[in-house]
Amino acid sequence: MRQLEDMLEYHSRKYYIDNAPEISDFEFDTLLRELQDLEAQHPDEVNPNSPTKRVGSDITNSFKSVEHRYPMLSLANTYSSEELGEWIDRITKEIGEVEFVAELKFDGTAISLTYENGALSRAVTRGDGRRGDDVTDNVRTIATIPLRLMGEGYPSLFEIRGEIYMPYASFDKLNTEREAQGEPLLANPRNAAAGTLKQQSSQVVARRGLACTLYHIAGDNLPSDTHYGNLMAAREWGFPVSSHIKVCRTRKEIEEFIAYWDTERKSLPYATDGIVIKVNDYAYQRTLGTTAKAPRWAVAYKFQAERALTRLLSVDFQVGRTGAITPVANLDPVQLAGTVVKRASIHNAQQIAALDIRLGDMVYVEKGGEIIPKITEVELSERPAESKPFEYITHCPECGAELVRYEGEAKHYCPNTAECKPQIIGRISHFVSRKAMDIEGLGGETIELLWENGLLRDISDIYSLDPIQLAALPRLGDKSAANIMEGIRRSKEVTFERVLFALGIRFVGETTAKYLAGHFLSLDAIASATTEELAEAEEVGSKIAVAITEYFAQEHNRNIIERLRSAGLRFEAAAKSLASEALKGKNVVISGKFVGRSRDDMKAMVEAHGGKCLAAVSANVDFIVAGENMGPAKLQKAEKLGITILDEERFMVLINNNTDGADDTPAESAPHQEASATPIQGRLF
Ligand code: IVH
Repeated sequence: MRQLEDMLEYHSRKYYIDNAPEISDFEFDTLLRELQDLEAQHPDEVNPNSPTKRVGSDITNSFKSVEHRYPMLSLANTYSSEELGEWIDRITKEIGEVEFVAELKFDGTAISLTYENGALSRAVTRGDGRRGDDVTDNVRTIATIPLRLMGEGYPSLFEIRGEIYMPYASFDKLNTEREAQGEPLLANPRNAAAGTLKQQSSQVVARRGLACTLYHIAGDNLPSDTHYGNLMAAREWGFPVSSHIKVCRTRKEIEEFIAYWDTERKSLPYATDGIVIKVNDYAYQRTLGTTAKAPRWAVAYKFQAERALTRLLSVDFQVGRTGAITPVANLDPVQLAGTVVKRASIHNAQQIAALDIRLGDMVYVEKGGEIIPKITEVELSERPAESKPFEYITHCPECGAELVRYEGEAKHYCPNTAECKPQIIGRISHFVSRKAMDIEGLGGETIELLWENGLLRDISDIYSLDPIQLAALPRLGDKSAANIMEGIRRSKEVTFERVLFALGIRFVGETTAKYLAGHFLSLDAIASATTEELAEAEEVGSKIAVAITEYFAQEHNRNIIERLRSAGLRFEAAAKSLASEALKGKNVVISGKFVGRSRDDMKAMVEAHGGKCLAAVSANVDFIVAGENMGPAKLQKAEKLGITILDEERFMVLINNNTDGADDTPAESAPHQEASATPIQGRLF
């Protein structure tokens, strides 16, 4: 065990600090798993600083849910200065003249930090406002958050709240890296910050360049009676407190602050989406009190999403890997929220018709939550006299096949999956991408090159590539050829759930693939399941089930599958080491909310004890574990079918009793080891 600890530490350092890994992720995970197994067998020998310690919550894929000492409220918001005026009037009427504090509204994710005797002891996300996730280890990596306070005068116990955000520079760097690695881009800095905070590896968090600003203190014995006074004190203690904050005494002053920042914010290095106005005096804050959701002593004035007016020059039609056609507008370049916009999305034909978008129109573009801005409106007063309604294409711009529409779907599709070039290239790129088969060296350009040279017609051709042929191609030498061949060889070790994801079945993303793999355990079981059976798996709705059935109905796909099978890809889930067989053969539905455990935890527990989770209540269900707020329709159906309903406590008793009873059989001797039954994904440190 000591040896494994040393090896893991060494390789972890090579990977994270030296950026020069010497072993593959797979080899690393195998070592880690070996140590975990040994630790399970010899609990007395576990080193409290073992590399597996950090992994605990990683494997369970969740953070401990904890209760907030004071609920984390949200803010009432408004977009109109009229409403803001009414809010100010109401307060003045109720209390008289008061001081306000105007601050920037940071666009990130809320955090509550607890300090005990001057040291950071806990960091919790907002969650549902009452309970949030304990993300302390991740938050400790954020450089500007003090781990120990400076100066004096801070209470022995208090909470300070603020926003964790990702500055534009970090966000751009992250997306550039993701693009280079073929990973999907993050939509905006807010999502990136929230996602990063929930990363299972604090080293990942540390590398992502998050920042924090603090704007609210809660606790007793604070040094000042005003919000502003305490923020200034907090700054002295070493907290990052924004300097763009102002005490305002009149509506006019507040409006000036808003008007100033409405333009100036564009030159800030981070995203803001409004101004927060708070009553300064704590005594008045208490008088005003709170509603169930938000304090009555604060309001957020939100900035209008930025938009720009420009001319629509032309529309391109892109063909995705699923054949979906996406119209993309080419615009006269225009400045918008800090970048020059040349292209915008218009989602589909319906939207073009609904907005009556025409070539040559002046159009408004907005940056919403998406990466590329969208056209939201046409300026009809500037429409050229000779303009004609937009005619949507009827045939694929790439291969000429007639486009089709599927029921209930707004998009047009090119049905020529087997021959249409961007679909083939797109599917192959998806197949080799990092989260799928992770074949290094096969980038978009190389795939295109191989396609042009007739070496790749579909994903299964990858496994017939030979190094001599590869090395002979322009731009590829012996070294890249060897690299690709090594990537291909290693891809045969990729887990079944990732193989399933790699196939690129419509709507089967990473998560769905994981659920499908866990439920059916083999590709053959999925291929032979009926649409109804498929829809029984957790997270698989009828739309996905139909898409899967359609995929396997196509001979072309079945041929590919057979060739992949002969190449030696994993078509079966690795045998799970179960915590117990308490639920063997049982179909379980998890419904409602649970105390102290997420629904995903509950599901993982069912699976760790040999059960299967189903999404819907049907005659196949053996019992339901019901938390709070189980839906009335589900309840009624369960009662009608006479299905047993267990509460959380009884469920825990059921699995624990059975586990204890099975203590003498080695495979079942690890109660509460749900975590180890979950396959390890990727790098854990
Ligand atoms: S004060 C009890 N101040 O906006 C008052 N919130 O839309 C707590 N936010 O949940 C909030 N900047 O996450 C406050 N200067 C600021 C803020 C701010 C951003 C966030 C915060 C809040 C959300 C409401």
